[in-house]
Formats: sequence, structure tokens, C-alpha cells
Amino acid sequence: PLVSMRQLLDHAAEHSYGLPAFNVNNLEQVQAIMEAAAECDAPVIMQASAGARKYAGEAFLRHLIDAAIEAYPHIPVVMHQDHGQSPAICMGAIRSGFSSVMMDGSLLEDGKTPSSYEYNVAVTREVVKFSHAIGVSVEAELGCLGSLETGQAGEEDGVGAEGTLDHSQMLTDPDQAADFVKQTDCDALAIAIGTSHGAYKFTRKPTGDILAIERVKAIHARIPNTHLVMHGSSSVPQELLEIIRQYGGDMKETYGVPVEEIVQGIKYGVRKINIDTDIRLAMTGAIRKFMFENPSKFDPREYNKPAREAAKLVCKARYEAFGCAGMA
Ligand code: G3H
Ligand code: 13P
Ligand code: NA
Ligand code: ZN
Repeated sequence: PLVSMRQLLDHAAEHSYGLPAFNVNNLEQVQAIMEAAAECDAPVIMQASAGARKYAGEAFLRHLIDAAIEAYPHIPVVMHQDHGQSPAICMGAIRSGFSSVMMDGSLLEDGKTPSSYEYNVAVTREVVKFSHAIGVSVEAELGCLGSLETGQAGEEDGVGAEGTLDHSQMLTDPDQAADFVKQTDCDALAIAIGTSHGAYKFTRKPTGDILAIERVKAIHARIPNTHLVMHGSSSVPQELLEIIRQYGGDMKETYGVPVEEIVQGIKYGVRKINIDTDIRLAMTGAIRKFMFENPSKFDPREYNKPAREAAKLVCKARYEAFGCAGMA
């Protein structure tokens, strides 16, 4: 069934686990996520970004997720709008059938310029007001995703602040988080701890100075009843990069958020972990390999099948590591 995010995150908090929230753009990704969830009996959060809506169209995304709910009636599914840039966008998603929305007021409506605290509180409150009235959950964001290593927002594909950020903007302040949650009554809070979207997060395996899991603990100590969200949380597995390189791809050296660091975060209130890049890497590697090994084949089903299988393996690994297997 379609459920609200709040239901799943409350259950996750009660049983001390975390839920991966996978971005979806097409049929094969939706199927991969559902097959993985069914195999390990995990609840599902699927989310659509503005880019996904632009690529697939809201109607296709909605019906793909509805199809998943119909095909897997025993699995609870959240249909979440990722990084909503305004109350109007969130309202549109709700009208279209989403059961959860993110109002990302950490940035202005352009999705690039860091906003004032007052702006963020105001737009988030507005979205909470109309969403809660009809049982829709709201994720908010305080702080900006960005690399503590380089000071860059580090987004290569369109979601996130542009250019250079202050160190303090890239680390959510625990006292401000407490005030923010009190003023907005959001259901979940995305925090900034040094991660960024995309494949190029860190130039080395991250240590505490550039991936601030300590900050998760400090925020959780301040607001123990708030569900925390980690964005930019792909692990960028070296073996997936290697497959892409082996079959003609050009991926520079890069490191993601290690699964064991996320597992630490889950011990301190992280309940939703956003993952898009890892699925992209898995599918691209599988398709490159298939194309290389089968130069005469041209049926999309033939190369989408191994891509879907590779994505499924990533999803299963995250469901198991984050402790949500068996929780559906
Ligand atoms: O929020 C970031 C996700 O990776 C979505 O990326 O805007 O390319 O769909 P996208
Ligand atoms: P990744 O780019 O690390 O997969 O992050 C996705 C994300 O945060 C979507 O909101
Ligand atoms: Na989100
Ligand atoms: Zn994000």
C-alpha cells in the first residue's frame, strides 16, 4: 500500500533502523527497487526529483509507482517528492498523489542560492500546514550540502547550491536545528554534514574532518525525537567505478559515503538515507559491459535486464546494511 513517510520513519525509529530512499526516473529502477525490497521484505521509499519529473513526466512517475504498489501489495511504499523548491511545487506533487514531500528551503526557488533562516522557516511552515491537514509528511532541510574538503557545493548535475560555501553553512547547527523543528513541525530534517550530491564527493576515503558523523550525534542529542535525513549518501563503490572504467567509461578517482559511516549515523537518529548515484553507477557499468561483450545486440530489453539486476544488488545491500530487511 501507499503509506506516508511519517509512518515508516516512526517504525524505523522504534526499531532502530534506517531506510534507503532511492531516486527513480524509469521503469527498470522502480522494478529493481521493488524486487530487492520483496526479496528482503523491506519497506520502500521511492523519490522523484525535479529532474526526474522533467525526464519522465509526473504522470509516468506516478503510474510507475502505482504499478509497483499494485504488483507488490504487501510492501509499504512511500511516494516522495525530492527537493521541492517551493510550496507551489510541493502542492502540485500532493495533487498528483505523492504521499510525502520535501520542502527544501535551504535554497531559494532557483535551487542554487542559499536562503536566509527566516525564509526557510517560513516556506517550510507553509508546506507543513497544508500537508499535515491531509496526512502528507514533510521533509525539510537545514544547512547546505557541500564539501568540507573543498568548500564547493560540489554538485555536477543540478541539485544544490552553486559555487563556494562557508564551512558553517555546510554543517547544520544543533541549536538552530532545535529551533527550526520547533517552529516548523516538520516530520524529518535533512542535515548538512559534509556530503554532496553526485559521484564526486570526496577525493579520499572520508575521515571525521570531512564527513561529520559527530555532528549527527550532536544534532540527535539536541532533537532526539526528530527523524534525520542524510542526502548525498551514495557510497560510490570502487568496484562499480572499476566496471565502468574497464568497459570504456571515464570516471576519475572518487569516494562516497562508506556504508559503515551511514550505519553509525543510523545509531544516532538517521532514518532516511538518500541514494541515487549508486544506482546510476550500477546500471551504467552493467550496460557498458553488455554492450562491449555483445556488439551485435540491439534489443533494449537485453541490456536493461543486467542493468536492472545490478541496481537490485545495490538496493538489497543497502536494505540489509541499514537494518530494514524483514521490516515490511
Ligand atoms: O537530489 C539529487 C538527486 O541525485 C537527483 O538528481 O536532479 O539529476 O534527478 P537529478
Ligand atoms: P547521491 O548523489 O549521493 O546518490 O544522493 C542522492 C540524493 O541526496 C537525492 O536527494
Ligand atoms: Na528528499
Ligand atoms: Zn538530495
